[in-house]
Amino acid sequence: MLLWALLLKAALCAAVGNVTRDVCKERVCSCSALEGDLHVDCEKRGFASLQHLAGPSSQFYHLLLHGNSLSRLFPNEFANFYNAVSLHLENNGLHDIVPGAFLGLQLVKRLHINNNKIRSFKKSTFLGLDDLEYLQADFNLLRDIDPSVFRDLSKLEVLILNDNLISALPTNIFQHVPITHLDLRGNRIKTLPYEGILEQISGVVEVLLEDNPWDCNCDLVSLKDWLENIPQNALIGGVICEAPTRLQGNDLNETAETDLCPSKEGADSSLVAPPTQDEASDPGPPPTASKTSGVTESQSVGGGHNKGRPKARENWQLKTPTAAATGAGERETPHNATCPRPCACKLIGARQGLGVNCEGKKIESVANLKPKPLSAHELNLRDNNIHTVKKKPLPRLLELEFAGSGWE
Ligand SMILES: *[C@@H]1O[C@H](CO)[C@@H](O)[C@H](O)[C@H]1NC(C)=O
Ligand SMILES: *[C@@H]1O[C@H](CO)[C@@H](O)[C@H](O)[C@H]1NC(C)=O
Ligand SMILES: *[C@@H]1O[C@H](CO)[C@@H](O)[C@H](O)[C@H]1NC(C)=O
Repeated sequence: MLLWALLLKAALCAAVGNVTRDVCKERVCSCSALEGDLHVDCEKRGFASLQHLAGPSSQFYHLLLHGNSLSRLFPNEFANFYNAVSLHLENNGLHDIVPGAFLGLQLVKRLHINNNKIRSFKKSTFLGLDDLEYLQADFNLLRDIDPSVFRDLSKLEVLILNDNLISALPTNIFQHVPITHLDLRGNRIKTLPYEGILEQISGVVEVLLEDNPWDCNCDLVSLKDWLENIPQNALIGGVICEAPTRLQGNDLNETAETDLCPSKEGADSSLVAPPTQDEASDPGPPPTASKTSGVTESQSVGGGHNKGRPKARENWQLKTPTAAATGAGERETPHNATCPRPCACKLIGARQGLGVNCEGKKIESVANLKPKPLSAHELNLRDNNIHTVKKKPLPRLLELEFAGSGWE
């Protein structure tokens, strides 16, 4: 363990040709365990770059960087913080995320970049965040969103984009992401088509569309139909028509299709895609977490242009709506913030996470490893005293080494 730490430190120093300060050991930040999770609190430290700083190398942690001056993030900005499981970058005046900035953050599940000045999401803006489940980007200046920005975020469930300048979502933006919670309030959206957008978020359990200038014409019939077929209470707040004038102020749910589309009689109704059988027949369990989470102000960080609307929810739960969704249990397994005693842990591979090395530690059973290395992908148990082992002792395990363990 110690040797690894020293080697790692030497490598880092060599790489930057300068001293890298460990933010916890050198007390640059305040590092403390809260409910079993390590919080590395570097709030308001005046950082403009993280280049010569490093986070703990043998523990997972939440990295809190609100209120610094990280206005531009350069490639590999977080290279020395690879054990972060969540990242808070609120209120940094952040306006430029150079593609590659998040490389190395394969364990980050939650990214908070709200209350900044971000104008666009480019194709590779989130490159490296392979495990991201929760993206909070409200209160920015977002206008341009690349259609493929989320393409590699195959676990993204919660997307908070309220209070931006979005006038349309690009087609197929959600094609590869299992969105369950979507907040689009306070943008400039006039319509949301079924094809290429709504059809791709059939797993939604909460959607917020308020305060957009909805154009209640024929194009919105499919949104109305879709809203009638998602789980009950999934829509929070209304969809209020801004145009045409005769429907201004009407709630979409109380506007007849013939009012939306007066000349539609006789038109080809197949143009309006019906909901799929699954959506129509399975209302899914009620989103219990969302009910209790409600709408909190507590996390509001005073970002200049609050419109007096209840703010994005910090505590939107990462839950899966239907039993049909796969991998739900695994996804909900939290990373344990510590390495099992007496083993050593390190990050391995391009995306998987943890290598747990318990070589020669006199361990008698995998069950004795505490805490259980639930997120381990490699487990080295060479030279221990293990005689039997269950077929697959840990859910995500890819490689297991037992040589010299006396295991039959
Ligand atoms: C490390 O870099 C900083 C600025 O980049 C410089 O001021 C400092 O002298 C360097 N220290 C060493 C030991 O090279
Ligand atoms: C329409 O939605 C509003 C909330 O925006 C709700 O108060 C109202 O009861 C709904 N009307 C119908 C007919 O479902
Ligand atoms: C990690 O494991 C320890 C020991 O089993 C436990 O007390 C702690 O609550 C766990 N932390 C998390 C985040 O699961």
